[in-house]
Amino acid sequence: VRKIVIGLLGAGNVGTGVVRILQENQADIERRLGGAVAVKKVLVRDPSRSREMVADELLTDNPAEILEDPEVRVVVELIGGIEPAYTYVMEALSRSKHVVTANKALMAVKGRELFAEAARRGVSINFEAAVAGGIPILRALREGLASDRIEKITGIVNGTSNYILDAMTRTGARYEEALAQAQEAGFAEADPTLDVGGGDAAQKLALLTLLGFGARVSVDDISTEGITRVRPFDIQAADELGYVIKHLAQAVRTPEGLILRVHPALVPKGSIMAGVHGAYNAILVESRAMGRSLYHGRGAGPMPTGMAVVSDIIELCRSVFAFDSGRPPPEAFARVEDVKPRPLDDERHENYLCVHVTNVPGILGRVATCLGTNGVSIKRLQQDPQGPGTPVDMVIVTEAIDEADLTAALQRVDELDAVQAPTHRFRIVDPDPLESR
Ligand SMILES: NC(=O)c1ccc[n+]([C@@H]2O[C@H](COP(=O)([O-])OP(=O)(O)OC[C@H]3O[C@@H](n4cnc5c(N)ncnc54)[C@H](OP(=O)(O)O)[C@@H]3O)[C@@H](O)[C@H]2O)c1
Repeated sequence: VRKIVIGLLGAGNVGTGVVRILQENQADIERRLGGAVAVKKVLVRDPSRSREMVADELLTDNPAEILEDPEVRVVVELIGGIEPAYTYVMEALSRSKHVVTANKALMAVKGRELFAEAARRGVSINFEAAVAGGIPILRALREGLASDRIEKITGIVNGTSNYILDAMTRTGARYEEALAQAQEAGFAEADPTLDVGGGDAAQKLALLTLLGFGARVSVDDISTEGITRVRPFDIQAADELGYVIKHLAQAVRTPEGLILRVHPALVPKGSIMAGVHGAYNAILVESRAMGRSLYHGRGAGPMPTGMAVVSDIIELCRSVFAFDSGRPPPEAFARVEDVKPRPLDDERHENYLCVHVTNVPGILGRVATCLGTNGVSIKRLQQDPQGPGTPVDMVIVTEAIDEADLTAALQRVDELDAVQAPTHRFRIVDPDPLESR
């Protein structure tokens, strides 16, 4: 049997899944590939600790044993973070080894340098697992939809955030309680900042933008908001208005440029995104010829993510065997255009507002005036009846309004004496409107 030798950098959650799939599916993989995949070495920090799936003699803490071994044709990076992953992947590429990685941070931040080096050496870098774990969304954009023009991508791409919002919606739990539950169930890291702050989703959106729109954006240029400000009150109020709060990552093509946003949003109950539960991910792609297509499944976990990594390995091994691959040449990524997302100022949305006021006479009129003078029309208003002088949360749904006008209006609202705290605002987004379903 023909054989391709690979080296793994990292044997944690995903690394273990990769080794398990390579072992358990060995016969199928050999048949589909027309050859075998052999893991020669596995880099870890602590090789003295035995691993569930990996033979002790394969473990090493010396990266040179993989990176400098001429027999190793494919290096699989599953360490995570920027360094030392970047140095190791660069080293592998510069020695003309193909690379597979699940590392979204690395690809979103250092993609330019890595693609350039891969192009220079005539090798590939595959990263399917970096976006939405097991869901083959990058493959769908790159292959299945290769002939189409992508107009819009809307994703729930952070399983931790979705798990937390879903738990808050189902049980009425506070954010902190739902986060603790997610951590207990293994769906949130001990330090969840990158997930709940929206940074992880922004990195994935940058990669979706690269594949879907052929544009390279800096993660720092993506307007990003996490889920930490969402309160049970907002979820309850949204429910009464007919919405569910979801954490969305969205890329939209407009004549003036790309809109890129990551934020919690109210989506209509009964819409596709409202039906994405637990730690699941979903990506709704809107393209000109195809219309809407949905990609839904488990966006993390050793086996789904490991599966995506092994599929990338198989694709590379096929091309190594055949010297003839369906993959785009690495130049395709190396020559991608740098793009600044367009400012969001003139973007129009309906909005959910929660104004924290002291219930004094005339307050409703004053809030309405601040909104009205900036062109913000009120579509719905809810206010719990309370005695005079008590704090009240006034819930307002606005008609569609420009971001800039809304920002100006909210600034004036928040300056009112009776307003106790900055007004809470989430966009209302319907990527799957009922009339077009
Ligand atoms: N977990 C998921 O569900 C998931 C989903 C999609 C993508 N990803 C991505 O997959 C990658 C791996 O995630 P993971 O959850 O598998 O991470 P993990 O469980 O923390 O595993 C990391 C592995 O890398 C090794 N490692 C870390 N730093 C190292 C260093 N400086 N030198 C050598 N080895 C080092 C660790 O060695 P020790 O074992 O000795 O500590 C461990 O085996 C990340 O980029 C992550 O974003 C993960």
